[in-house]
Amino acid sequence: MNGSNPAGGKCPYGHGDTPLAATPLTTQFGAPVVDASNSMTAGPRGPLLMQDVWLLEKLANLNREVIPERRMHAKGSGAFGTFTVTGDVSKYTRAKFLGEAGKQTELFARFTTVAGERGAADAERDIRGFAVKFYTEEGNWDMVGNNTPVFFVRDPRQFADLNKAVKRDPRTNLRSATNNWDFWTLLPEALHQVTYVMGDRGIPKSYRHMDGFSSHTYSFYNEAGERFWVKFHFKTQQGHAHLTDAEAADVVAGDRESNQRDLYDAIERGDFPKWKVMVQIMAEEEAATCGFHPFDLTKVWSQKTYPLIELGMMELNRNPENFFADVEQSAFSPSNLVPGIGVSPDKMLQARLFAYADAQRYRLGVNHHQIPVNAARCPVFNNHRDGQGRVDGNYGGLPHYHPNSFGQWQGQPEFREPPMKIDGNADFWNFREDDDDYYSQPRALFQLMDDAQKQRLFANTAGAMGDALDFIKQRHIDNCTRCDPAYGAGVAAALGMSVNPDLSPQPELAD
Ligand code: HEM
Repeated sequence: MNGSNPAGGKCPYGHGDTPLAATPLTTQFGAPVVDASNSMTAGPRGPLLMQDVWLLEKLANLNREVIPERRMHAKGSGAFGTFTVTGDVSKYTRAKFLGEAGKQTELFARFTTVAGERGAADAERDIRGFAVKFYTEEGNWDMVGNNTPVFFVRDPRQFADLNKAVKRDPRTNLRSATNNWDFWTLLPEALHQVTYVMGDRGIPKSYRHMDGFSSHTYSFYNEAGERFWVKFHFKTQQGHAHLTDAEAADVVAGDRESNQRDLYDAIERGDFPKWKVMVQIMAEEEAATCGFHPFDLTKVWSQKTYPLIELGMMELNRNPENFFADVEQSAFSPSNLVPGIGVSPDKMLQARLFAYADAQRYRLGVNHHQIPVNAARCPVFNNHRDGQGRVDGNYGGLPHYHPNSFGQWQGQPEFREPPMKIDGNADFWNFREDDDDYYSQPRALFQLMDDAQKQRLFANTAGAMGDALDFIKQRHIDNCTRCDPAYGAGVAAALGMSVNPDLSPQPELAD
């Protein structure tokens, strides 16, 4: 059957006005396929013949089209864009791409929901991933953050459990409010993140209308060997916009891909979304004296003490030509760092330095760095070899060992980071004995909300707690009361329950 093209030879899927040229069908090895529509059979009503190799190839390929989805952040949208330097942080970092004003660097960004699977609806109450890959001349820098400045847990021991608690129950295969809230409420340090997610920011109207944060503390270091602790912020220039639970239910009923559609359409019509990229900076030695734990992922840094300093502008301006090639196969990792940007002692960040590339070696293969969206835009030169899917010539006949007598694979000591002083005895340190201030920052967040925002926070919480067991609901009311009596009372009222009269808010700690 020859398909007649109702679009008159033009692509019906919006790929411009260029008429599509007729293309001959071949097998994957280039041999002509004689018949695109009819399988080879013995006689018009007879069985198939094994020698119909195109049919075999087609069936076999279909079986292998699906790759594992990301264990979390499975549903997402991505686009290419540009970062333009507008500030001057050269005294803090030697990173070349942050060098002079006006300098531009290509990038790829992917935004996600976290708990839902690859086919989940976009407008769900959840945190959003905010991952950006900067293709710098000194290698790729991946900023793998979220749309909130804090996280649920501060020890990587709890990360796998967090994912189990928010995903499906092993027996019912349903999301379970009991599992989810049992876990969250047993970890009072989660209340800060929970307050963000249950508040208005829990359902951004679109990916364009949300901020991004590194959340973790990273580091800058300069040519003089000085280190600074930093946190990155991406400020939406589209303004913040959110959906209520009711609005989100309406959106999902009509469109499960609302965020994908919004981002794609905006870029297609030339309405390129932008984010101002900012950084908070703390001198290295101040970490010991600043009065709070600067590497605790459940805490923010005061912007009064550590004001936002401008780095540049991120713009998304090109949709991928193929979703699978660029978005599904993209691989971000906090271990992708460039000279001038380093990590911090945050143990969550340290665990992530292992987790991502390991996940990607499983999800995409050991050579996923060769996939164009992941490939560095600067020379790559090392003695890793072989592995599935090696397509770059494998360094031909160059030596593949070090040391060698031919000058290959030399280290680059000029890029050494300043030494980081580390002390303390190796042990399973219990951070609760070091810092049990779980409530002062969520209290500040709660008190920033106006009455209407607080009412929505209470209602969203009650809605999300759904059929969780009552003792778990009570535990959450208790945590909220310790944070602020008005928070506890509001959640209790929304749940039709009572506050515990013996609880009082935990004392404020100094900012
Ligand atoms: C995705 C692990 C905490 C943001 C992932 C993936 C893994 C992972 C294995 C899938 C990677 C892939 O298959 O490509 C962890 C571990 C954590 C942690 C072990 C803590 C110990 C965080 C935190 C943030 C974050 C704190 C944000 C500040 C993201 C984002 C993605 C992601 C944005 C999706 C990246 C993309 O678009 O491909 N995480 N994660 N994660 N994670 Fe985490």
